[in-house]
Amino acid sequence: MSAETASALDPDDGLLVLDGIVKQFGGLTAVDDLSIAVEEGEILGFIGPNGAGKSTTFNCVTGRYPPTSGTVYYDGEDVTGTDAHRMVTKGLARTFQEFRPLEDRSVRENVELALTPDKLFSLQGLRGETRQRAAAICERVGLGDRMEMLPDELPHAGLLRLELGRALATEPELLLVDEPFAGLSGPEVESISNLLSDLRDEGLTLVVVDHNMRGLLSLIDRAIVIQFGAMIAEGAPEEIKQDPTVQEAYLGGDEL
Ligand SMILES: Nc1ncnc2c1ncn2[C@@H]1O[C@H](COP(=O)(O)OP(=O)(O)O)[C@@H](O)[C@H]1O
Ligand SMILES: [Mg+2]
Repeated sequence: MSAETASALDPDDGLLVLDGIVKQFGGLTAVDDLSIAVEEGEILGFIGPNGAGKSTTFNCVTGRYPPTSGTVYYDGEDVTGTDAHRMVTKGLARTFQEFRPLEDRSVRENVELALTPDKLFSLQGLRGETRQRAAAICERVGLGDRMEMLPDELPHAGLLRLELGRALATEPELLLVDEPFAGLSGPEVESISNLLSDLRDEGLTLVVVDHNMRGLLSLIDRAIVIQFGAMIAEGAPEEIKQDPTVQEAYLGGDEL
């Protein structure tokens, strides 16, 4: 399967299409000719051992830096190298693995600051309304009873909810979630997983990154596995778990 998906993709093959993305840092090829189509309405798992190039792929798509070569299409349009702010206005949001909310602002204010100014134009001057929208988002991500707290009063899972809230504040159609389950307990994984699944049911398309299958098996529709920046498998989550190439990639390292 990976041989077929590695061939050239069309701009309209998905909501987000990566065609032959390469990212080099000096002599290191972090992303190696990666071609991926994210279909509208799906939850795609993007899996690979630590250092495989998952976050770098995200960074090339969300405008943190341009890819060395290859093309990124969003909604059929070539958006290669488009800056982060413009990608957000197009409907692409992400969460960061290392996130730092503003420590001197409440949870609600942190979400309020992420509301996209462009999309808020019609609400200019309506402070009460932005406040209400931020509060609604806090409710949506399960922080309804903690929105007046400071971020450092939240447990780790609460911070992740806040990071998701900040992403949702930009009203995305596609959300890239980078390693949401790291550092979470079993019940927290399930609870966040349910939240992501509900968001999809409400119309969001999601790519969820993890370094293993933990928490992903029941959440995702499809998985793409990368190693050394290149795709090694693509398919249903159950198939991926049985795939000998995938199992080999994890030998002696992370647990699949
Ligand atoms: N800004 C950077 N400069 C140099 N090397 C980097 C940079 N970002 C990532 N890398 C390297 O690229 C590879 C892929 O990293 P990363 O995308 O963070 O992996 P993952 O998210 O899958 O754990 C690693 O070898 C990492 O050290
Ligand atoms: Mg990473």
